[in-house]
Amino acid sequence: MPATIIVGTQFGDEGKGKITDFLAEKADLVVRYHGGNNAGHTVVVGEKTYKFHLLPSGLIQGKRCCIGAGVALDPRVLIEEMKQFGQSKIELAIDHRTQIIMPWHNLQDGAREQARGRKIGTTGRGIGPCYEDRAGRNGIRFCELVEPERLRKRIAEVFPTKKRILEEIYSVNVDFSEEQVFNEYSGLGEKLKQFLGDVSLEVSTALKEGKNVLFEGAQGLFLDNDFGTYPFVTSSHPMAGGIFTGVGIGLLNDIEAIGIVKAYTTRVGEGPFLTELKGELGETIRKNGNEFGTTTGRPRRIGWLDLVLLRTSIRINGLTGIALTKADVLSGIPKLKVCVAYECGGKKLEEFPADWGVLKKCKPVYREFDGFEIDHEEKDFSKLSSEAREYIGFIEKELGVPIKFVSLGPKRSQTILR
Ligand code: GDP
Ligand code: IMO
Ligand code: MG
Repeated sequence: MPATIIVGTQFGDEGKGKITDFLAEKADLVVRYHGGNNAGHTVVVGEKTYKFHLLPSGLIQGKRCCIGAGVALDPRVLIEEMKQFGQSKIELAIDHRTQIIMPWHNLQDGAREQARGRKIGTTGRGIGPCYEDRAGRNGIRFCELVEPERLRKRIAEVFPTKKRILEEIYSVNVDFSEEQVFNEYSGLGEKLKQFLGDVSLEVSTALKEGKNVLFEGAQGLFLDNDFGTYPFVTSSHPMAGGIFTGVGIGLLNDIEAIGIVKAYTTRVGEGPFLTELKGELGETIRKNGNEFGTTTGRPRRIGWLDLVLLRTSIRINGLTGIALTKADVLSGIPKLKVCVAYECGGKKLEEFPADWGVLKKCKPVYREFDGFEIDHEEKDFSKLSSEAREYIGFIEKELGVPIKFVSLGPKRSQTILR
């Protein structure tokens, strides 16, 4: 299949990085299409752990990588992240049109959260303000970052207004000058200039030539700016369709869209979560699954698997397959629950409501399963215990999409290909 998309089906942190690395072996190009360093993708190969925020997870397999126009790129973070690999060993193209996160975006993100009546619980990485500037046509793009004279002009256009807004409206002290920003960012641009490319053209050409392109999503469907639990969402489009606007490619006939499904649900930050487990059991799963944010270290909220969310995710993402991750984390829990529908004032909902305001009146309907034990190293699906196969088989049957990969541990090797 020339194009494969890896997409988060829930609220992020499903294990997209792990599956991207696994599938990258057969890819010619690995491409990030949206989001920024709000993402945290962990990949474990042997005894080594890699944490990706901006670079595509295909790098470990030594693949050529691309950052598309739809990404919000913080150059400070990118330079730091490159040190894991050594800049000279990285084959990377960054699109001319990619929006740059500037230091005022980080300040605005924090200030906005403080000022807002209801917090969103953002990662504080300047993502929302950067995308707002893109939509408002105030953004600074990668092709401007790498050319000092253009950068100087753009900073001069934007900085005074940003400073006024931050200081006069949000009472935040802007402790850097226009000159300091220019000096630092022109230096970053100089270091990154070698990666400037037309990712739209490169990816379109690769697809036309029948090469294998792997698109690595960040976040998850329910954090999508339109189709997530707005306003408790991110500011980009994690949905599979985001590849078209995020990379700049034409519609494709042949796409494998792999949805990453965690065997339970987690969420970081605020927002509705009907199957949330607030007691001791939630704590146990958090501990066993090491459910603390890769980016911010915040404890992730934990809940039972929710098929209502997943049906909607399958539809909106057009999924052709599922990679189920972290069923091993449920090992040893005597009874497991899966939410099969929502009961809302006498009505049964099987898909997530377009207006989640109605959730106040909804209760999850659960089906109960016997617990199981899972050996991380099992390679043969048929050798998993009958209880584990029943849990996984039920999910597959209910969702009507084949579970093509079952991940049983964080390591690349701990993966069953069905
Ligand atoms: P992403 O943002 O979707 O890439 O996911 P994260 O990397 O933020 O979070 C997933 C976490 O679970 C990481 O620490 C992975 O190493 C780990 N992980 C991935 N798949 C599995 C699995 O099948 N079992 C276990 N126990 N851990 C996994
Ligand atoms: P990966 O790619 C989990 C959440 C934040 C917050 C909301 C908005 O690792 O799955 P933002 O900083 O984007 O404006 O925050 O979105 N969020 C994530 N949650 N995984 C992520 O990425 C996330 N990226 C953003 O916690 O609730
Ligand atoms: Mg993550």
